[in-house]
Amino acid sequence: MIKIAVITVSDRCSQGEEEDKSGPAIKEIVKSLGKVVKYRIIPDEKKLISNVLKEMIDCHKVDIVLTTGGTGLSSRDVTPEATKEVLEKEMPGFGELMRQESFKLTPLAILSRATAGTRKKSLIINLPGSPKGAKECLEILLPALPHALDVVKQESFA
Ligand code: MTE
Repeated sequence: MIKIAVITVSDRCSQGEEEDKSGPAIKEIVKSLGKVVKYRIIPDEKKLISNVLKEMIDCHKVDIVLTTGGTGLSSRDVTPEATKEVLEKEMPGFGELMRQESFKLTPLAILSRATAGTRKKSLIINLPGSPKGAKECLEILLPALPHALDVVKQESFA
């Protein structure tokens, strides 16, 4: 069974000023892929984001960590930087595919700096923060995920 963590990165949601709609939307979509074993809402703090990503993989042995939010251009958007700090190998293809395919839906897609990669045979994937963006991007990537995990883990999930 594929273990999934969903991490919403948002100052406003973490402070209870806004309801997190992206995390629940992601949880619903990935039901077909595996079990969501962890769900956290955290502020846009680089060190904290890196630590939570490490915790999910190193302690909780999660296979896929999906983040939502903090991939844009505001000064508080640091999710890709925090992710790169904990990746062993970056997989730029995920971000490239998201931007290329999403651009057909909205030119704003180009504003996301989302990336992805591996850590200890697990995958970390950034998604944009809006529920619409997170959903659109996840649906683009979803068909590739079982095979990507096969390759990363060198065992069969497809
Ligand atoms: N990608 C898709 N598919 N759909 C969207 O609506 N929104 C964009 C972009 N990617 C969007 C998208 C916008 S408006 C921004 S600012 C960036 O994602 C970054 O969003 P984030 O900072 O919330 O992660």
